Amino acid sequence: MTNVIAINGSVRMEKSDTTMLMEPFLEGMKKAGASVELFYVKRLNVKPCTGCFHCWNTKPGECIVSDDMQMLYPKLRSADILVLATPVYIPLPGEMQNFINRLCPLVEPILEKREGRTRARFHAYVKIRKIVLVSASGWWELGNFGTVLRIAEELAKDVSTEFAGAILRPHAFLMKENKEKTKIIIDALKQAGLQLIRNGKIIDDILETISQPLISEEELRRRSNESYMKVKRG
Ligand SMILES: Cc1cc2nc3c(=O)[nH]c(=O)nc-3n(C[C@H](O)[C@H](O)[C@H](O)COP(=O)(O)O)c2cc1C
Repeated sequence: MTNVIAINGSVRMEKSDTTMLMEPFLEGMKKAGASVELFYVKRLNVKPCTGCFHCWNTKPGECIVSDDMQMLYPKLRSADILVLATPVYIPLPGEMQNFINRLCPLVEPILEKREGRTRARFHAYVKIRKIVLVSASGWWELGNFGTVLRIAEELAKDVSTEFAGAILRPHAFLMKENKEKTKIIIDALKQAGLQLIRNGKIIDDILETISQPLISEEELRRRSNESYMKVKRG
C-alpha cells in the first residue's frame, strides 16, 4: 500500500481554498487504495529550525527541538509520497516555511554535484520517493505560483526525490461562485489523486483542467479594485 503524508500549510485550515483543492485530491488517492494522513501545520507546534546542525554534524538524523516534528518524523520517514499544500503568500505562510526547514534531519549531508548544483539525498531509511505540490493563489495568472513552485522543485532536487507534479489553482476563491466549472475542477482533482497513486504521475490535461481560468483577467482586476474602492469610500 502507498503511504501518503499530506502537510497543509494554510492558516485558514478547513475553511481554506487550499483545503478545497486537497479534499478531492486526497479522496482520489484513497479511492486508489492509498493510506493518507493529513496534518495542518497551524494546528501543530512546529518551531523554527535553530540552525544548530545537530541533525547533520552531531547526531545525524536527530533533531534536538522538542515539538510536534518529533511525532511527524517517523511518519515522514515511512511515507512514500509527501504532499505539500500551501496558499501563495509571497511566497509561503511562515508555518509552511518552518515545516520545510525542519525536514533537514531527514537529509544525509553527503554532498554531490548534480546538473551543476550541490545536492544531497534523503537518508536511505527515508522512504519518500515523490513530492507533490498543491497550491491556491488569489490573482489571475499562473505566474503567481513561480516562487512556490520553485521552492517545491528545489526541495525535491535537494533531497534527490522525484517532483511528481504541481496542482495549481489561481483565483481559487472564485471556485465558490462558478458551480459548473468547479464541479469539473473537483472531478479533475479526484482524477489527479487516482492517477498519482495508480500511475505515479498526473497527466498534463488534468493539471490544465484544474488550473483553467474562471473569469477573464480584466474582470478579476475590475472586481477586486471595485470592492477595494467601496471599502475605501466607506
Ligand atoms: C500575505 C498574503 C500574501 C499573498 N500573496 C499572493 C501573491 O503573491 N499572489 C497571489 O496570487 N495571491 C496571493 N495571496 C492570496 C492567496 O494566495 C489566496 O487568497 C489563496 O486562495 C488563499 O488560500 P487559503 O484560503 O488556503 O489561505 C496572498 C494572500 C496573503 C494573505
